[in-house]
Amino acid sequence: MKKWNHKHSVKHRYDVTADIYDSRYAEEQEAKYKAALEGLKVTGAVLDVGCGTGLLFNQVAAQADTCAGVDISMKLLLKAKERAKTFHNVHVIQADADYLPFQSNCFNVVFAITVLQNMPKPAETLTELKRAAKHNCAIVVTGLKKAFSLEAFEALLRQAGLHAVSIKADEALKCYVAVILENL
Ligand SMILES: C[S@@+](CC[C@H](N)C(=O)[O-])C[C@H]1O[C@@H](n2cnc3c(N)ncnc32)[C@H](O)[C@@H]1O
Repeated sequence: MKKWNHKHSVKHRYDVTADIYDSRYAEEQEAKYKAALEGLKVTGAVLDVGCGTGLLFNQVAAQADTCAGVDISMKLLLKAKERAKTFHNVHVIQADADYLPFQSNCFNVVFAITVLQNMPKPAETLTELKRAAKHNCAIVVTGLKKAFSLEAFEALLRQAGLHAVSIKADEALKCYVAVILENL
């Protein structure tokens, strides 16, 4: 019950700030995407968990066969839906990151950018991302520095059985950016 109350209040917080999200955060998020995408091959089916207004679609849709954006906030998702119209291969779905509405072993690349700090049990969320990802996949997750120390973020990845090939922690970034390549 506590878990749902928490999620409900997170959803409400993002719903009421949806109109100012891009003007306040686009620049900050784009710096994270740049770090995340450096040297990463984006291909096949892409999942963006906690997609917000869909800012990441601009960076990945052209290389992907198909791209799904999932978010719990309907207000943010409506903005993502508008953005998705620019592309022929982007679809948005309202869902909880802990219960993704996909079969296992579906996605080539899974992103969760600045999402984990919102989750009541972030290691469980990571396990769910891993379930939706193919056995040979790339998973990119970030840990907000305000919410996690680098050690705590690394421990979280380990707890979910994820082995990062790189964790970018540049001072200019507000997140640690971990790239996990499973069997690639
Ligand atoms: C800081 S924003 C990041 C949005 C986007 N990834 C970006 O790069 O701009 C965090 C996002 O996580 C979403 N979120 C929070 N809890 C969630 C949950 N339980 N399931 C799915 N999305 C969630 C919020 O609605 C919000 O869009």
